[in-house]
Amino acid sequence: MTDALVELRGIAKSYAGVDGASSAQVLRGVDLSIAEAEPIAIIGPSGSGKSTLLNIIGALLPPSSGEVIFAGKNLAGMSKAELALLRNQSIGFIFQSHHLLPQCSALENVLLPTLASGAAAERAGAKERAQRLLQQVGLSDRLAHRPAQLSGGECQRVAVVRALINQPRIVLADEPTGSLDETAADHLSELLAELNASEKVAMVMVTHSHRLAARMQRVYELHMGALRPGEVRA
Ligand SMILES: Nc1ncnc2c1ncn2[C@@H]1O[C@H](COP(=O)(O)OP(=O)(O)OP(=O)(O)O)[C@@H](O)[C@H]1O
Ligand SMILES: [Mg+2]
Repeated sequence: MTDALVELRGIAKSYAGVDGASSAQVLRGVDLSIAEAEPIAIIGPSGSGKSTLLNIIGALLPPSSGEVIFAGKNLAGMSKAELALLRNQSIGFIFQSHHLLPQCSALENVLLPTLASGAAAERAGAKERAQRLLQQVGLSDRLAHRPAQLSGGECQRVAVVRALINQPRIVLADEPTGSLDETAADHLSELLAELNASEKVAMVMVTHSHRLAARMQRVYELHMGALRPGEVRA
């Protein structure tokens, strides 16, 4: 038994080559324990397997071997429907580009994940929660704007709020600042650290930036397919 929110044990991952025969081993034994509300950063060079690892934690990709235990449950024993429910209710995703729907306003985009789940009463509360969080990230006067009417940094802040709307237990952010300039990247990573504390949500942030990684409590580096404590050069 474990008290961890997420426990990875001996995770390995190989991808089949395009010819179907050869395969490349990307992860070779990743062990990681993430506590409730804990913020961690993962750094590593391009191609080291950061996105692969995040997708495995997020139940989007099964490992080739090893176990992912989420809130005490082994993902390997869960059906596709159970995994989809877990992703919708317990995990928030943020990607390098915001993936907002162009025809929807900021507020509507944030509320999209609530449509798939929850009772009507919960959905009613979601609108207030969305407005509060959008205010917290400095967008209270942008609720009705569509993505094309927002800056890149503002779109990414909408995506952050969308990831939080269902009150997930963990947020997985894959290069969330990758498409932003330095000032906007700083602002967004500050916001993530702030929301980690105020929403008491665990967070795994993948980044190339040692400076941004240093905002999280623990920093790991993916090296040769395994995690090691990261050296932070601020
Ligand atoms: N679906 C796939 N099929 C085959 N190979 C893949 C697949 N996805 C990733 N890879 C390979 O696995 C390795 C790790 O990829 P991954 O995307 O996890 O790296 P990354 O650390 O996120 O890189 P980046 O910093 O560039 O985003 C790469 O060599 C990549 O080519
Ligand atoms: Mg990646």
